[in-house]
Amino acid sequence: MAASLGLVLRRGGLVIMPTETVYGLAGDATNPAAVAAIYAAKGRPQFNPLIIHVWDLPAAQQHSVFDARALDLAEHFWPGPLTLVVPRRADSPVAELACAGLDSIALRVPSHRMALDLMLCGRPLAAPSANRSGRISPTTAADADAEFDGVFTTVDGGACEAGLESTIVALPPGQPAQLLRPGAIPREAIEALIGPLAGAAAGEIKAPGMLSSHYAPSAPVRLNALDKMPGEVLIGFGAVGGDLTLSAGGDLTEAAARLYSTLRAADAQNPRAIAVAPIPAHGLGEAINDRLARAAAPR
Ligand code: TXA
Ligand code: MG
Repeated sequence: MAASLGLVLRRGGLVIMPTETVYGLAGDATNPAAVAAIYAAKGRPQFNPLIIHVWDLPAAQQHSVFDARALDLAEHFWPGPLTLVVPRRADSPVAELACAGLDSIALRVPSHRMALDLMLCGRPLAAPSANRSGRISPTTAADADAEFDGVFTTVDGGACEAGLESTIVALPPGQPAQLLRPGAIPREAIEALIGPLAGAAAGEIKAPGMLSSHYAPSAPVRLNALDKMPGEVLIGFGAVGGDLTLSAGGDLTEAAARLYSTLRAADAQNPRAIAVAPIPAHGLGEAINDRLARAAAPR
């Protein structure tokens, strides 16, 4: 299975790949045709740069020279849900299109065994979340498969452990580290290692995860709801019960893992709106609130 999918990837085909964060639509990052096929399948409005998944730190260093901060972060968090945006080496074989022509590259070593198995094909894999542009990231094989009407082979790796995309940190040379996207590793854990993270400059779109309407269900979303209005589905958290809950025990890790599948389940009921209970702002709550704010943004 893995061997034949490796061949599919080497020939420029795409595979839906499980990771510990969300499912990805993976293709050979060194093959411009495969990268173009990813953009086409997702229906991305522009060629936004993609995350390049690699086997390990030495593989990552084929694409970038790591400074002390990058080494610290990689050694501490890889394999795992941290993406580093670092200067791109001129001799990196990754297709220009995958980096959208930027002189930086986004790299991550996933921890899901089946993702690592796919990388036995010997190529770095470009893999955005396996959803059509603007929709909720899939956290199960069935949800990923449905996004693309079953046209790609899906490797079923079960429900994603984190359920939320990787945290993206940019490390521009000689400049402070920036949090480009809150994600499955809380800001606090990164700051404990390399000190305070700057936010991205206001108005500057560094990652399309930062476009305001993104991760959107079909139904409108109402935040900080303590109870539900007629026709709504209420997603609870902790003491706020609901039709569904992110975590009855108020656990942010559980809430992150359940966020997208719960939004999908609520949306499937075709409610007038999806109401969501307040979520605390610390730890993984930062990323959860970020995704909820986007889901609720006017479109
Ligand atoms: O958890 C994840 O990161 C998942 C799994 C599949 O690994 N992938 C994912 O990919 O979320 P995607 O394409 O949905 O999000 C990639 C983000 C985008 O917001 C993109 O703009 C940013 O990474 N990015 C990639 N390269 C960049 C660069 N050179 N500079 C700034 N942002 C970059
Ligand atoms: Mg995405």
